[in-house]
Amino acid sequence: MARSTAVAGLADGRLVFGCDYNPEQWHPEVWVEDVRLMKEAGVNLVAVNIFGWAELEPTPGAYSFDRLDAVLDLLAEQGIGVNLGTGTSSTPAWLTTLHPEVLPQAADGTRRWPGGRQAWCPSSPVYREHALRLVEQVATRYGGHPALRIWHVSNELGCHNALCYCEVSADAFRAWLRTRYGTLDELNNAWGTAFWSQRYSAWDQILPPRLTLSATNPTQTLDYQRFSSDELLAHYTAEEAILRRLSAAPVTTNFMVSAHIRNQDYWSWAPHMDLIANDHYLDHRLDSPTSELAFAADASRGLAQGAPWLLMEHSTGAVNWQPRNIAKIPGEMLRNSLAHLARGADGLCFFQWRASLQGSEKFHSAMLPHAGIDSQNWRDVLELGSSLHRLAEVAGTRVQAEVALVFSWEAWWAHDQESHPSSDVRYLDQVHAAYRALWDAGITVNVVAPGADLTAYRLVVVPGLYLVRDTDAAALAAYVAGGGHALVTFFSGIVDENERVRPGGYPGAFRDLLGIRSEEFFPLHPRDSLTLSNGGTATLWSEALRLEGAEAVLTYDGGHLAGGPAVTRHGFGEGRAWYTGTVLDPATLKGLLTTAAAEAGVVLPDVQEGLEVIVRSGNGRTYVFLINHSSEDRKYRVAGTELMTAEASDNAVVVPAGAVRVVRTPAMTADFPKNDGPVGDRKDAHRVSN
Ligand code: GAL
Repeated sequence: MARSTAVAGLADGRLVFGCDYNPEQWHPEVWVEDVRLMKEAGVNLVAVNIFGWAELEPTPGAYSFDRLDAVLDLLAEQGIGVNLGTGTSSTPAWLTTLHPEVLPQAADGTRRWPGGRQAWCPSSPVYREHALRLVEQVATRYGGHPALRIWHVSNELGCHNALCYCEVSADAFRAWLRTRYGTLDELNNAWGTAFWSQRYSAWDQILPPRLTLSATNPTQTLDYQRFSSDELLAHYTAEEAILRRLSAAPVTTNFMVSAHIRNQDYWSWAPHMDLIANDHYLDHRLDSPTSELAFAADASRGLAQGAPWLLMEHSTGAVNWQPRNIAKIPGEMLRNSLAHLARGADGLCFFQWRASLQGSEKFHSAMLPHAGIDSQNWRDVLELGSSLHRLAEVAGTRVQAEVALVFSWEAWWAHDQESHPSSDVRYLDQVHAAYRALWDAGITVNVVAPGADLTAYRLVVVPGLYLVRDTDAAALAAYVAGGGHALVTFFSGIVDENERVRPGGYPGAFRDLLGIRSEEFFPLHPRDSLTLSNGGTATLWSEALRLEGAEAVLTYDGGHLAGGPAVTRHGFGEGRAWYTGTVLDPATLKGLLTTAAAEAGVVLPDVQEGLEVIVRSGNGRTYVFLINHSSEDRKYRVAGTELMTAEASDNAVVVPAGAVRVVRTPAMTADFPKNDGPVGDRKDAHRVSN
């Protein structure tokens, strides 16, 4: 299905500004004040009925819509659109009491109890039947409601219940495997069950990868991930079918492209959505939460194939689910919000509207905090609302990037399995490291799936693509042969889609492309490191690389691989392919990626440290977003009208410490000063994607 819904269409062409609204918690008198304050802030879309099931169906089959009717009518009267939840995300207590079999089972065979949220098995027909009955009711009642702008299926499908190991799931897994493999012989072959006496002689012997005494079969585990992602997608499409039958409103669900959730292969989900919506929270467990935000935003745009997308949840301040829930410092909420906007979001929503007084999320920030409207938080919300008003004309424009980064959930699942050369090397760390180096260098990146059309890019970065299909590896090689540039990092190309090692030396699928061959991995203990020929440091990984056509760019200066190549470069056809055989220190990695980008002809921005520069363009206009993360003023050479202050700039804009500026310029042309931004002086415009 094509994504046909423009995000701004949900708010009459304006940028979306909104929130989750959970009025179930409040007395109707509070709703009136809520809606008044929403209007004051400029809120134009609210997500309701996200966790509404127990209120809508208090006892089996008896529905009570009075309160939701009143909320929707109130919002419609005030011209606030609704992102309407189907309400199936969390089951009511009566359902799990009557049918405890819907409760999910963990890998050790124990059931998870109700009392939290999302306690249902994705394959449960009993859950599905009850959920769809509710959807039918909700869609029938509200499918044509004047407040309805978009359907919000369930909520963050798989946030807590992505993997269920119960008997029902086992049956569904077997059915999925029969479709995938057809015969047991095929399955035995794909899973390599000749090893460890794991051969199956009947389908009913096959189980989900439950807790075992030793390592489980890796292909079984990988297939279980694939199956589990497909099961939740099947639940989405089951709800979606009812909504489409009963309503003309677009349909989506909120993705979780983030650092700690990995169970959905969103590349396969995205085509089913009318628009891409993502939830993102700064994760202070990471080294660089701000660059991870940028990565998640770029990945959301990638899922939307470059079209504007919707940030369906983020936070005004602290969350409540990290070990230490760090509040945002002054200006940070605006910077975070506008970073999403700069990277292609046409709408920004928060969890949640009014801070709860009870329940497990009472210490999660909200648009309206416990302190009320006499608070910095509320003033920041008002400021963001008016900023979005000033930036309205950005809606519909697209981000430009000359560099792509290949990202794969499937490769992530496979890469991080047990029994690998090093448990210290994690897929997402490698992806984030490569992304951060590009982000630090001011290079805008499109995130793409393996096998994507790469012809629009000058440089393609491929971090840790441990699992790669033959066709996807061939596509990368063809791109380079045709004149493209690629940089591949270690532990890529190792196995095929069945987790079968590609023999003949590493990095398997990419050996010819990279002009190297390695016979053995030498992971490093975290306390050890190797020195590189540029004085930099190599950690966690090394390998005995032999040059087979490539040249060494960096070598090891001592240690067991002294003099051996650590980083290589290989002319391949018309293009060039780089390889990094270790974890490089951040400065070396940034230098390397910058060099690779420059050699590929990427226009390198000349920006001061701490200034994030992103360009959106369309309709003959270009918008240069300038986000100053530093504590000093920054200057950027660009002429046009600055939209946050409505001031004209002849040739340079000063971005005060911590502030954001957005400059509208005419569409950039070849005489635009070369060092002023990533799209200046494009010699070969057809290679720049939008
Ligand atoms: C999301 C969820 C919201 C809320 C939020 C808190 O995962 O969809 O309901 O719990 O996190 O950060």
